[in-house]
Amino acid sequence: MPLERTVKALVLVGGFGTRLRPITYALPKQLIPLAGKPMLYHVLDQLPADIEEVVFASGYKADVLERYLTQHPLRWPTRTVPEATPLGTGGGMRNAGAGLSDPFLVLNSDVIAEIDVPGLIRLHAHRGGVGALSLSEVEDTRPYGVAALGADDRIERFVEKPTPEAAPSHWINAGLSIWRKSVLERIPEGRAVSWETEIVPGLLSEGVFGFRCPGFWEDAGTPERLLHSQRLLFDAGRGGPAKLPDGSRGRGPVAFAPSVRAEGAEFGGYVHLDADVRLGAGSFVEDSILMEGVQVGPNAHVRHAILGPHVRVASDAAVDGEVLASNLDSRAP
Ligand code: GTP
Repeated sequence: MPLERTVKALVLVGGFGTRLRPITYALPKQLIPLAGKPMLYHVLDQLPADIEEVVFASGYKADVLERYLTQHPLRWPTRTVPEATPLGTGGGMRNAGAGLSDPFLVLNSDVIAEIDVPGLIRLHAHRGGVGALSLSEVEDTRPYGVAALGADDRIERFVEKPTPEAAPSHWINAGLSIWRKSVLERIPEGRAVSWETEIVPGLLSEGVFGFRCPGFWEDAGTPERLLHSQRLLFDAGRGGPAKLPDGSRGRGPVAFAPSVRAEGAEFGGYVHLDADVRLGAGSFVEDSILMEGVQVGPNAHVRHAILGPHVRVASDAAVDGEVLASNLDSRAP
């Protein structure tokens, strides 16, 4: 169904991604590949085709991101608005706010989910108020801010990090929301501002509604959660065709570039292999992301690992649960 109105999307891509270091020393988090393509491209898959424009509020590694976007164009017109100094989520929104639609969408760029964006836009149009937030349901509420919901799923307040028993609900901010453009004026200029903690609580009295999303959800900002996001994407059939590289054996899913060579290698499933990855005979890879040019020696084992561009894993070595950046030889066995 076409959108009822013209909507632009603002995507926050300016964070340092500290929890994914050392990979993010060279690369913005959003370009880390999983299940066949960079995180950002999975996030944007949720947007309908008739979004009018996608605006990126960028900062850290803005040039790297912009180059990648130019080389791998999206289906919507795009524009990048970099910050000279990090402005936080709210400051980034204000800085990139000129020319947005009313209302506009805001997306975190590190949340892997399946949110019904046209449904969110319709809910906002019908309920009114200043905004609406997609909500995901979690079992363990302790790491999150939880929404207390009133009539019509109006958000009354957020309760930070409650135990599951004490939580007013198990619905948390899923990282994709819609706002009237006037809210941008509430963000102070010229300093870093957190949208979620400094601005949103003050907007609740003007009507912010929750939109419950039953699909999967994961914040891909840590190594464990990034790998979990990859498993979710594969299980949802969003990781490309279910086959293995020529001459390899074992279990998929494996997403791999055509230039990958893996003759004699074995897979345990849930693997992404970027361009020019080489896996030696007798090597075993499972639940991992191997970025461009990674080399794994014969009989080496790689499990639950994220290996940055051109990392080399020595023959017979075992890498388990590690995040390694460029050109480090893994330890000998
Ligand atoms: P960590 O350092 O690991 O916490 O990651 P992060 O820097 O990405 O922070 P966080 O995961 O809290 O960020 C949530 C979203 O906001 C991500 O999409 C970030 O790219 C984005 N973001 C965080 N800080 C800024 C900022 O200063 N400016 C802009 N434009 N976006 C930001």
